[in-house]
Amino acid sequence: MASSTDTPTGTGASGGARRGVHSPDRAAVSAAHLRTDRWWLAPAATSAGLLAFVVYSTWRALSNAHYYAAPYVSPFYSPCLAESCQTMRSGPNWPLFGDWWIVSPALIILVFPLGFRLTCYYYRKAYYRSFWAAPPSCAVAEPHARYTGETRFPLLLQNLHRYFFYAAVPVAGVLTYDTVLGFRDHDYEWGHMGLGTLVMLANIGLIWAYTISCHSCRHIIGGRLRHFSKHPVRYRLWSWVGRLNTRHMELAWASLISVALADFYVYLLAVGAFADPKLF
Ligand code: FES
Repeated sequence: MASSTDTPTGTGASGGARRGVHSPDRAAVSAAHLRTDRWWLAPAATSAGLLAFVVYSTWRALSNAHYYAAPYVSPFYSPCLAESCQTMRSGPNWPLFGDWWIVSPALIILVFPLGFRLTCYYYRKAYYRSFWAAPPSCAVAEPHARYTGETRFPLLLQNLHRYFFYAAVPVAGVLTYDTVLGFRDHDYEWGHMGLGTLVMLANIGLIWAYTISCHSCRHIIGGRLRHFSKHPVRYRLWSWVGRLNTRHMELAWASLISVALADFYVYLLAVGAFADPKLF
């Protein structure tokens, strides 16, 4: 039932349409939800996982140290765009920022993968549910009285996702190049493979799988077509990306974990915790 402050169209006295469980045309159920399962487990686990990554990546990005152990470079610090990088002997480096850039070079490049993940359709669902309880789970009432979607600042910026996808592709390309450079030894001679090479290979494989499974990628490949029959190559690519897309959530988590593990591996080598085991 509509409250005395509602207009007939369900708009509150202070403006803004009342939606979802607060919509005036929904059945009035006083309980927050009728679920009897442990529905809170998923948002709680998501919060814990995302918070752990935020804490770890913030520490590593701000530390500005131990991100290079020849021939490996941490994915948090590549490509290096500042002159101060420790990786200047081993590309790819484009020192667009001179000596005046005195803070961590990771802060320059991380904007792009961070923007890509923050605006990702899956991560949006994940952090809307786990941090903002909007809603916390299916069939569980959210505490917010109004819903404006992503039509206003700052959530309007979520619509930039496609452009972050365009930025994420070259970043993944650079990390691929870094991975190839991992087949050199300490003296930069080719024909080496260490445990670090495998770590980098696994990481870049997951990063590409996550990037290509992006909803924007799927639309770029198969969208705006009237007839798939006239575009068999795009149809084939779209079908392939579509299959990956069904695993987007899993790939989002796997690649998030792998990028942190790859960075941590380089950190351990850089601080001398152990030597990179040589496979051949
Ligand atoms: S929808 Fe997740 S990366 Fe594009």
